[in-house]
Amino acid sequence: MTDQNARPRSFSASVPLKGRIAIPGDKSISHRALMLSALAVGESRVTGLLEGHDVLATAAAMRAMGATIERRTDGEWRINGVGVGGLLQPREALDMGNSGTSTRLLMGLIASHPITATFVGDASLSGRPMGRVIDPLAQMGADITSSPGGRLPLMVRGLAPAIPISYRLPVASAQVKSAVLLAGLNTGGVTEVIEPVPTRDHSERMLRGFGADLTVEADADGTRHICIMGEAELKPQTIVVPGDPSSAAFFIVAALLVPGSDVTITNVGLNPTRAGLIDVLRQMGGDIELIDPREVGGEPVADLRVRHSALSGITVDPAVTPSMIDEFPILFVAAALAQGRTTTTGLDELRVKESDRLAVMSTGLRAIGARVIETEDGLIIEGTGGDPLPGGATVAGHLDHRICMSFAIAGLVTGSSVTIDDMGPVATSFPISRPCWENCSHDDPPQRRRNRLRCRSVADRRRGRAR
Ligand code: S3P
Repeated sequence: MTDQNARPRSFSASVPLKGRIAIPGDKSISHRALMLSALAVGESRVTGLLEGHDVLATAAAMRAMGATIERRTDGEWRINGVGVGGLLQPREALDMGNSGTSTRLLMGLIASHPITATFVGDASLSGRPMGRVIDPLAQMGADITSSPGGRLPLMVRGLAPAIPISYRLPVASAQVKSAVLLAGLNTGGVTEVIEPVPTRDHSERMLRGFGADLTVEADADGTRHICIMGEAELKPQTIVVPGDPSSAAFFIVAALLVPGSDVTITNVGLNPTRAGLIDVLRQMGGDIELIDPREVGGEPVADLRVRHSALSGITVDPAVTPSMIDEFPILFVAAALAQGRTTTTGLDELRVKESDRLAVMSTGLRAIGARVIETEDGLIIEGTGGDPLPGGATVAGHLDHRICMSFAIAGLVTGSSVTIDDMGPVATSFPISRPCWENCSHDDPPQRRRNRLRCRSVADRRRGRAR
């Protein structure tokens, strides 16, 4: 059956890419900026916020729980928070769309408030495991009823006061870490997260920035102990969101692969817990120059000048995985054009992202002529040595923005073209300048209608305010 609202797009061999490009705000930081601002007492101001569907889902949820969130016509967001402990019971189910980060972090917030909320999402999100957050939050006293397999739709009944816990992360996941820390905000005493493998630390940085009493200590083996003291009082902040390195990744690889390219990507967040792809691409021979390294909103940032390079295959050290967890789909595209073999291992987490990214990338890459072997926990790719891929196929995006973007870039380096069956999901993390409901694309008509209505009401409110 074809989806009438799908947005198929074809991408074909590109001329050299030249010039400067600014990428949208960091998705992880944008979610956290909205959530913490909505819990502070007073008005926070956020510029550079990513206005993709995922972040708008977080904004809608925080509004539904009492925060006042407005976007000014100049693009600045103003958020008046309810105070930690002050979240109100949402009247309707929280529609998380495609967003795992919204879902897992908000489950944490609600777990220690005396409110009940139901979470729903699209087909991709409804297939993703939530047991990883249900377990620690249940230990803190939340009552969570999920669909079979610990999936959405699910209902969280929070407990206040909740029980502080010490929780050792069984998977390297910033979402799980953040869910527990956010639950700890409104929990008297010390809530501890023990993190054997470091993951993105935006929650820790921003919680401290908002005035939470949060400490991080590392054992000799690198295991981090992150402790938050509740009940916290958060002070409003002015936040500048840097550009998203996960979005920059597509343009970095495009510039490396398309012969003759020379592109500068401005204002890219380079938090070391996110910058793994740059190290890996440099190991492969990528010419990536950091220009004007600086700090924006408490995060390291630089402009990146990227020039076409002959890449060589490598064995990617699995230790780098958490710092480039979302960048493997586009790394696989780079590997498909490199000289020789690229081997990746330790990527089982990729199977539970917006899609099974190992299976979907290996199927799609093979369809466009790449040589790929899928293993249990990675891909082995024999590159073309820079020759274009044959292309000439339609690949399925599986409601996964990063898969769609990766195959769009692959299309630029084929002898023909690549068609992606639906580019709509790209708007979750990379909004393009059209009214946002035009970019809504979901698999089932009722969901689509709900999203269209939600998007419209955001737009209506903005128009109302602009008057
Ligand atoms: C995110 C953490 C990562 C990442 C996701 C965003 C976050 O997920 O893949 O896109 O903002 O905390 P996991 O925690 O599942 O690794």
